[in-house]
Amino acid sequence: MRTQIGIVGAGPAGLVLAHLLHLQGIESVVIETRSRKYIEERVRAGLLEQGTVDLLIETGVGERLRHECLTHHGIALRFNRKSHRIDFDDLTGGKTVTIYAQQEVIKDLVAARLAADLPIIFEAANVSVHDFDAATPSVRFHAAGKDEVLHCDFIAGCDGFHGICRPSLPAGVLTEFDREYPFSWLGILAQAPPSSDELVYCYHERGFALLTMRTREVSRLYLQVPHDEDINNWPDDRIWSELRKRTEAEGDWKLNEGAIFQKNIAGMRSYVVEPMQFGKLFLAGDAAHIVPPTGAKGLNLAVADVRRMALAFDEFYKTGKTNLLEHYSETCLRRVWKAQRFSWWMTSMLHRFDTDNAFDERRQIAELDYVTTSRAASMSLAENYVGLPWD
Ligand code: FAD
Ligand code: PHB
Repeated sequence: MRTQIGIVGAGPAGLVLAHLLHLQGIESVVIETRSRKYIEERVRAGLLEQGTVDLLIETGVGERLRHECLTHHGIALRFNRKSHRIDFDDLTGGKTVTIYAQQEVIKDLVAARLAADLPIIFEAANVSVHDFDAATPSVRFHAAGKDEVLHCDFIAGCDGFHGICRPSLPAGVLTEFDREYPFSWLGILAQAPPSSDELVYCYHERGFALLTMRTREVSRLYLQVPHDEDINNWPDDRIWSELRKRTEAEGDWKLNEGAIFQKNIAGMRSYVVEPMQFGKLFLAGDAAHIVPPTGAKGLNLAVADVRRMALAFDEFYKTGKTNLLEHYSETCLRRVWKAQRFSWWMTSMLHRFDTDNAFDERRQIAELDYVTTSRAASMSLAENYVGLPWD
């Protein structure tokens, strides 16, 4: 087998890259360890920045998104039992964010790729990458009962945080920057109409809670829980009781409740590797960096990386120049670190780190008070939340 770009991983990074390359007339093969059903049902992110939405629509994979998404013009920060709205229309000159589940983006991209009869190999086993420091890189894997070798010009490592591309780089090439948090998020999907039209980020002495949604009938709700928490400690009644406490507010606020049909606990981490490229292997998305979900940046960063990578491959195949390829890592990392800063800041402002620390509590309330009353501070939050400009 031979192609121009061997793409490892069919998450948002790998599938958006394959789609952009196809539009540029560049061939690729996507290799994924999981089944199509598995990746189309995996519950993860839900919030798309304006730039991500525009890119999906402009490149022809946004038809269902346009009809089914929920567009949001602001968010609320709730503390001391009062909600404070951050108005994106006013603060960003009309930018918005969009709720559309990650697995729906995946379904749209897989459907477009299969409709165009382009290669995507599911359930590949023993995937490994070779010779990316030489002229002839290859990806080896086992699929449909056969060992295969995919020869390519470049390899795109889009295989997420637990993938094989990043660990395949020779020792000493990468520098890792890592921060773990002493808490996780318990997330649920519930058959209940959203209690609020917009997302509500709640700071509470019992811990953080987030009210978000998937559709007009389905709520997505999160609770801060201890780092090594066991999901079995959280029967449905306890989840609702805790959510009611942490989201309480003055006025006619009521939390809508319903049957919980999905529950999981995800750890929180900030992580970056530098550089994001070695020889002919280019890393993108979670393979190179992880953010805590508080800023809703993970999926959006993955899309920003592969947009850059597609531009760089386009320049290379059209002109033979390697300028954008050489600057890929540096250019991506500037955006990555700003998203890291923002995600860390939102996380630090909204979570309880140490329940006994009265100084920290007062400082966090002061920060929330400042962010919601200073136009300069709320503008900074809004500008980062809707997504910084691509370039
Ligand atoms: P991934 O989506 O991880 O895709 C990588 C793909 O590579 C996967 O399909 C995987 O099966 C495949 N793969 C792995 N190893 C191999 C291999 N050896 N060979 C071939 N293929 C391989 N972000 C938010 O913004 N908000 C959220 O609420 C949120 N919630 C999350 C919840 C969870 C449990 C997780 C894990 C992440 C969450 N994120 C969230 C982050 C967001 O989903 C990711 O940032 C996003 O999926 C990154 O896309 P990616 O394509 O880089 O990686
Ligand atoms: C989500 O809808 O899953 C979501 C939204 C905003 C976040 C995190 C997750 O900050």
